[in-house]
Amino acid sequence: MKNKFYIAANWKMNKTLKECSEYMDYFTNLLLEIPESKVIFCPPFSALFTMKSLLEETPYALGAQNLFWEESGAYTGEISAEMLLSCSVTHVIVGHSERRHLFGETDRMVNKRVLKALSSGLIPILCIGETIEQRNNNETLAVLENQLKIGLESVSGEEINKMIFAYEPVWAIGTGERATPDQIAEAHVSVRISITGIKMGNADNIPILYGGSVNSKNVSELLKIKDVNGYLIGGASLNADEFISIIQQTENYIKESE
Ligand code: PGA
Repeated sequence: MKNKFYIAANWKMNKTLKECSEYMDYFTNLLLEIPESKVIFCPPFSALFTMKSLLEETPYALGAQNLFWEESGAYTGEISAEMLLSCSVTHVIVGHSERRHLFGETDRMVNKRVLKALSSGLIPILCIGETIEQRNNNETLAVLENQLKIGLESVSGEEINKMIFAYEPVWAIGTGERATPDQIAEAHVSVRISITGIKMGNADNIPILYGGSVNSKNVSELLKIKDVNGYLIGGASLNADEFISIIQQTENYIKESE
């Protein structure tokens, strides 16, 4: 049997409060069986407080899309770990490729965010991934290793055990062009080996999610890849029917493989 699955919805800069309520209403009415997979909703900051109440008494977790490493102060536009905790956030995406490429976040900044999340009791979902140029130059595995090495600097093995990782090839995000099962399998194995090396210990149970154009039509292929422990889903998670279908296919797969 595979390890537990994690299915995270990254809503990015989408959904007003009304849209969040309508979505969750529809979602909870349709998905009656409690999934064995861990489902995590990462709405925009503006919706965290509303989502906290919408998710109360559900088994679903609340995640944020970023955090800043300072406690408080003159950091216009940033959000602190404490602010996230006050909205009952448990998970936080760190180092998403849109943050890296559109907003200039470096591996060093990503590392500070990871450390802050961990020291605050938040579970970081650390995203890594190569650009198309890096893949074409055969640099994919080296890029991933380097992102992990810097991103995890000063993070203890015990802390790494609490984390979630997401392999997201930049060229597959929001493009409809998903990586092939072979490319995903190769990347995930190599990420697990790198994590094992960095923490100097077993990384078999550390969740490594795949992200990049996952949808209800291609999820069945991903389920079968050994080192894929779930997915980080953008576009397809915005539509409740689509997201439910992904969850249900995952649940059926878990049941069949038991
Ligand atoms: P996508 O986004 O599913 O729309 O490709 C994935 C992500 O950015 O995490």
